[in-house]
Amino acid sequence: MFIVAWNQDLSVGIDHLDNHHRRLIDLLNQLGAAVSAGNPRDVTGMVLGELIRYVYYHFGEEERMMEAAGYDDLAAHRQSHRIMAEHVRALEVTYDRDPSAVVAAELHAFLSDWLIHHIRSEDARYAPCLCQKTNAP
Ligand SMILES: [Fe+2]
Repeated sequence: MFIVAWNQDLSVGIDHLDNHHRRLIDLLNQLGAAVSAGNPRDVTGMVLGELIRYVYYHFGEEERMMEAAGYDDLAAHRQSHRIMAEHVRALEVTYDRDPSAVVAAELHAFLSDWLIHHIRSEDARYAPCLCQKTNAP
């Protein structure tokens, strides 16, 4: 229930970005394992801190590659990233004020749903454009 398995359905066809997505899923799975073990408080803070650092890096990389490839839906994708990054940042602020205010199981469900949906719908849309550029001679 709390473990998300990366599989080929989640591939965007670019190893660099697939590896980023694997790292994000790995962080989610660390949180999921802590929820299952019944003591997720410290892990929640660690995952939130690590997630926000990694999310900023990953979103920046994706946007740089979309821009370089001339992807025509970059503005909407960038906006989707910004909303998510702000949401995660707000969660971190809430957690820092009061760790009990962030329920780890809810956080895990929210982040998993968002990430899987984002990869399968929004990221999947840039795949043909970026793959064409990345694999071009
Ligand atoms: Fe994305």
